[in-house]
Amino acid sequence: MSAVILNGREISSEIRAELKAKIESLKKEGIQPGLAVILVGNNPASHVYVRNKKKACEETGIRSFEYVLPEETTEEELISLVETLNEDKSVHGILVQLPLPDHINKDNVIMKISPDKDVDAFHPFNAGNTMLGRARLLPCTPAGIMEILNRTGISLEGKECVVVGRSDIVGKPAAMLLLHSNATVTVCHSKTRDLKEVCRRADVLIVAVGKPNLINADYVKDGAVVIDVGVNRLENGKLCGDVDFESVLEKASYITPVPGGVGPMTITMLLKNTVISAELSK
Ligand code: GUN
Repeated sequence: MSAVILNGREISSEIRAELKAKIESLKKEGIQPGLAVILVGNNPASHVYVRNKKKACEETGIRSFEYVLPEETTEEELISLVETLNEDKSVHGILVQLPLPDHINKDNVIMKISPDKDVDAFHPFNAGNTMLGRARLLPCTPAGIMEILNRTGISLEGKECVVVGRSDIVGKPAAMLLLHSNATVTVCHSKTRDLKEVCRRADVLIVAVGKPNLINADYVKDGAVVIDVGVNRLENGKLCGDVDFESVLEKASYITPVPGGVGPMTITMLLKNTVISAELSK
């Protein structure tokens, strides 16, 4: 039996249509949601991400403000821009694209973003509320994973969920959201003993490591749901996830592809957070 492929592009366009309707009604109240994206330096991947975010904003009716700063921008200059945007009533969301150049401490910058405008939900205020289960702004990739599961009707209550990867952006917060849905959650990382055995227990396996083909069919229980968060660029220029898609396809019940799975959901959740911030600004 071959798994059902979870189409992140399709689920994204469903959510974006809902957001468009919300934005139209906000506009009637005189509010157009606005997202400011700050990019420092010349990281080519970051330039692509920022371009995609801007395009998604425009298509949905969100105003986008783009700040492209040179590599030699100081931490003080960047923080000063963030503080200006905190005060700007037409800006509802502020996103500082990571990674930042080495001479800038990202934590110092994130701490200066107003928690009300922190659409990445990276500020400790939002990260803390995510853990407490009362965040208004959720981290985008974990929230996107939950949308895929919920909108596909995959229940989590009592399920064994294994998250591979413990990053602050994906693994840790994803584990919290799964826990709030009453799953039994295990978080694995580079020091986990016998990763394969732990993964084989999973009803729902979420992989967010950044290693091509880390997970093959031997790591997957028959009928498991497999969510691949990895985005890896191979030498031949092709994108691939952390999961060996072809082999796992034959064993899982549902699987997300790369590209076209979790990726499109992340940007969609950024749009959603910007709309939520605009609504909260009323
Ligand atoms: N760099 C890679 N992914 C992200 C993200 O989701 N947000 C920000 N701010 N930077 C990133």
